[in-house]
Amino acid sequence: MIENSIVYRNFKGKYEYLPLSRSKGSLIWDRDGKEYIDFSSGWNVTNLGWNHPEIAEAIIEQTRKNVQGLLWGSDPIQEEYATALTSVLPKELNACIKETGGTEAIEVSIKVARVYTKREKIIGFNGTYHGQLFASLALGAPAESRGKLNPIVPEIFPIEFPHEDIGQEGFKKFVTEFENLLSKKDVAAVVTEPCMITGWGSGLIAYPGFLAKVRELTEKYGTLLIIDEVGTGFSRTGKLFGIQHENVLPDMIIFAKGISNGASAIATVVGKSEIFKPAFDDAVLISTFGWTPIACAAALKTLQIHLRDKTWEIAEKKGEYIVNRLNEYIGDKVISVRGMGMEIGVRFKDAETCKKVQMASFADGLHVVVGSKNNMQIMPPLTISQELIDKGLEILINHIKN
Ligand SMILES: Cc1ncc(COP(=O)(O)O)c(C=O)c1O
Repeated sequence: MIENSIVYRNFKGKYEYLPLSRSKGSLIWDRDGKEYIDFSSGWNVTNLGWNHPEIAEAIIEQTRKNVQGLLWGSDPIQEEYATALTSVLPKELNACIKETGGTEAIEVSIKVARVYTKREKIIGFNGTYHGQLFASLALGAPAESRGKLNPIVPEIFPIEFPHEDIGQEGFKKFVTEFENLLSKKDVAAVVTEPCMITGWGSGLIAYPGFLAKVRELTEKYGTLLIIDEVGTGFSRTGKLFGIQHENVLPDMIIFAKGISNGASAIATVVGKSEIFKPAFDDAVLISTFGWTPIACAAALKTLQIHLRDKTWEIAEKKGEYIVNRLNEYIGDKVISVRGMGMEIGVRFKDAETCKKVQMASFADGLHVVVGSKNNMQIMPPLTISQELIDKGLEILINHIKN
């Protein structure tokens, strides 16, 4: 039995979360064989649908050739993947660090930034999730959690995220305070998701121009900009990558989750080689399982499918449809429905109602997740059929109404 992140032996209790047994496309099944429409994608992982057959084939083919790379060398598929990924990013981002997961890649980017800039401070935004280890948690974990983990990594701290409701005056105030912080020229890097918060269930969209302003000011004061595309990357928000919403060139980008569609553990820090090279020795960039050839085969095929099918366009269209349908039910129980592409937050008036709707939807065969207390996050596989979207929405709306 698995309860959150803990796996038990011989568990005989009651499952609170869904005990997954198999999955295909936008459907998942529990241990009793009950079928669910999935509105989670495993939290932005299986963007192309669960167990994609073409990705499975690519893995099988690679397994016959070679499964493990060398720490001090490379396999041809690693180079092929690095070329493919960097060729769809701004040309200045010409190198990839080999990692296994989002947390690891975030932590590595922080080390690189400190070594490269010779500065200590790292700024994140409140209410964001960048990973489960100390430095990544220090960036944005809620104060209650941070407090219990003390001493947490010094000189890494969050500031308030300027979301779309703060208005022009609020954004102006943010810009002034942000510039004051950076002007001391002791901040090594700012870490942020590009256009909205996808982790911790906040579903908050940034004030328009946020990313461009952050880039302008970080550049002005010699601070590096690290963009976390773990949730927003690979078509989720209606663009292949979130940075495209404001056409910004960061110093480093983090990819994980949707990078291999969940078929293998892989992540990366993509950045400018002039920043990576001087940091190489001191930042200790070593990961035994980073970019195994199998993971690279999965990631390469995943990227090829996104490009071939222009999956981001599908995400934009279907996302708009879902938001519009749900917006009709704002009223008694729901405060707002907002999203970008297929990353959609349904904010309930209270946590209790949110939980009730979630549990009742489970019972009717819809798998939806709640990230923070009163926010339900709707993140279906981007390839979900119109029929399953409508069926899932009918279940959800029925429980919102009743
Ligand atoms: C935005 C974001 N960044 C980083 C991470 C950490 O990634 P991983 O779980 O692969 O360590 C997550 C995981 O949920 C995430 O949502």
